[in-house]
Amino acid sequence: MGHADPLLEQDARQNFWMPFSPNKEFKQEPRMFVRGEGVWLYKPNGDQVLDASSGLFCVAAGHCRPEIAQAVFEQLNTLDYTMPFTRAHPKAFELAQRVATFTPEGLNRVFFTCSGSESVDSAMKMALAYHRVRGQGHRQLFVSRERAYHGVNMGGVALSGMVNNRRSFGVGLPGVHFMRHTALPENRFVQGQPETGADLAEDLARICTMVGGDNIAAVFVEPAAGSFGCLPPPKGYLDRLRALCDAHGILLVFDEVITGWGRMGTPFGAQKFGVTPDLLTMAKAITNGAQPMGAIAVRQDIYDTITEAGPERGVEFFHGYTYSAHPASCAAALAMMDIFEREDLIGRAAGMSPYFIEAIHSLRDLPCLVDIRSIGMMAALELSPAGQPPGARGHEAQKALYDANLNLKSTGDSLIIAPPFIAEKAHIDRIIDTLRAVLSTF
Ligand SMILES: Cc1ncc(COP(=O)(O)O)c(C=O)c1O
Repeated sequence: MGHADPLLEQDARQNFWMPFSPNKEFKQEPRMFVRGEGVWLYKPNGDQVLDASSGLFCVAAGHCRPEIAQAVFEQLNTLDYTMPFTRAHPKAFELAQRVATFTPEGLNRVFFTCSGSESVDSAMKMALAYHRVRGQGHRQLFVSRERAYHGVNMGGVALSGMVNNRRSFGVGLPGVHFMRHTALPENRFVQGQPETGADLAEDLARICTMVGGDNIAAVFVEPAAGSFGCLPPPKGYLDRLRALCDAHGILLVFDEVITGWGRMGTPFGAQKFGVTPDLLTMAKAITNGAQPMGAIAVRQDIYDTITEAGPERGVEFFHGYTYSAHPASCAAALAMMDIFEREDLIGRAAGMSPYFIEAIHSLRDLPCLVDIRSIGMMAALELSPAGQPPGARGHEAQKALYDANLNLKSTGDSLIIAPPFIAEKAHIDRIIDTLRAVLSTF
């Protein structure tokens, strides 16, 4: 019972309801890790597995960074918790200041959450609150995009452009209109941003015509869609969205839960693509994945507008989480900020990106692939379904890759590669060699 080794005892695997996982299959044939260090994860049998997806895009600085562990340990021994409503601790303020040195200019007010999903739902509320206090409470609609992933809370599900994430729970959710996704057939195997497809942003203009742009609160997009399988924005696409939002008084929200913190080779996708949103959500690598944390960086005047509209001594924004700006998460994030600065981690990602992208595209000749998409330190290999149900081959491939000691995430038939930024060329080469060896059998 209490001492049962979950690796050996099938019964001991039954209680844990695993998220986004095939529970029945996993409990028959578990694929576990028991340790991590640098770019490596370790199986129970001791085998070293290269973490080619940085966990879930979190572990930019590599696993088990002692600086982060030490900071969390010290924090938990100093102030383990304090309520974040009407009370605070100094590290929350310090972290907000540090985060604002990385965010695009003007987005310097920072609200903390515990995840990407919470950041998205919080940003939706901020948009609604902002419009309401300006006498535009009729702006109740949102615009999202096919193939978007904005987390799993109900707001994010409403924005979700992935059918399995909405089929069971999201079909009745009102208020969201969808633009088409940006994966055009003519852009298959293009490196980086495609030249064609900017006109897809005109979908927003059509939605504005259809429902009235003055009824739309915000447009949510991932600057480069990540979870679906790396969809870099066509050149000019985000600029056009920005212009249309400005023309209609709509807030533009970049969901940078994956693209943020260096994945694009810049602090945020906003800087990479030269387009500044009004709100920007983030999570994951803000703590290197070592503690749960998310955040929203907000244009200062949006914060000012909402807070100034509130009472002199009362709550201005009725929203927050028990664990908002949790002391241990703040300590982890501050240690991570130090790592970003000390190791120029984002510069390192930018420096490795061309090598990484070239290497990934060297797999183009594999007969099983129908597309390769890439940007920054993120790429996706899309497998042909080969007559099987969508996602079946992707699922089999990620299992075979684990068995060959390479860890990555699959979405549908796309395999997503997003190495830690500490990866050396030799690690990239090993990723490519393993992918070639395994995918040659598909
Ligand atoms: C763009 C985007 N938004 C939101 C989320 C949800 O984040 P979390 O799983 O931390 O709730 C994710 C997760 O991958 C994401 O990629």
